[in-house]
Amino acid sequence: MQLKEQIDNLRLPKHVAVIMDGNGRWAKEKGKLRVFGHKNGVKAVRQTVESAAEIGIKVLTLYAFSTENWNRPKLEVEMLMNLLVSSLKKELKLLLKNNISLRAIGDITTLPSRTQKMLNEVIEKTKGNTHLILNLALSYSSKEEIVNAFKNISKKIVNNELSVEEIDKNIINNHLYTRNLPNVDLVIRTSGEKRISNFLLWQIAYAELYFTSVFWPDFGKEEFYKAIIDYQQRERRFGKTSEQLK
Ligand code: FPP
Repeated sequence: MQLKEQIDNLRLPKHVAVIMDGNGRWAKEKGKLRVFGHKNGVKAVRQTVESAAEIGIKVLTLYAFSTENWNRPKLEVEMLMNLLVSSLKKELKLLLKNNISLRAIGDITTLPSRTQKMLNEVIEKTKGNTHLILNLALSYSSKEEIVNAFKNISKKIVNNELSVEEIDKNIINNHLYTRNLPNVDLVIRTSGEKRISNFLLWQIAYAELYFTSVFWPDFGKEEFYKAIIDYQQRERRFGKTSEQLK
């Protein structure tokens, strides 16, 4: 049976978040520059977005650039920003055709202005789409996101818009970049690394974690389906016993 047919459409994760890792090592293995890995990484992004849309995932968050990634060689950072602009330009058609709306989380104002411009343009043009939310984490740091939430909540307390007693999980959720999105059900990380790397720390509290040794440029539809099937074989107990779930 084809992998895709093994997926139970009634038990899909609503929100899948992916740490796309291994572009550099993939290129190195082939005796090529890191840039070559990133370019091929874009192909894997396209495959993953298409497969998520095909099976009916509601939200797909991709970790495209962390705040820590600013520390990479200047040339690589520039190249990644250019790649983002050209990919957004090229893939707009695919997004419109598949009824996908683009969003972004992170400190977007730190991106080069042309990147921000293209990003905002695609977000604007796709905002009415409803089939899948493609959420790009750019210049993203989960700890910074949480710090900002603390600051914004504190300001509301100082201004008497909120009381300390009112702070609960919902209030905190509502002050994160992901405020309008469901919690993450599944995190996928490629390239064999088993770390979370400052990604959606609050949002993944009950997520299932899936690690594969495949480098990101080799990740495609079949790899995505494998992750979903693996997820569907897990029993999500949320602290309860197996028996309580029956
Ligand atoms: C991780 O591989 C990859 C990145 C930091 C960049 C991811 C970006 C893309 C796939 C392209 C642009 C994205 C979109 C959404 C169009 P690495 O460089 O850390 O690899 P390594 O760990 O082997 O060095």
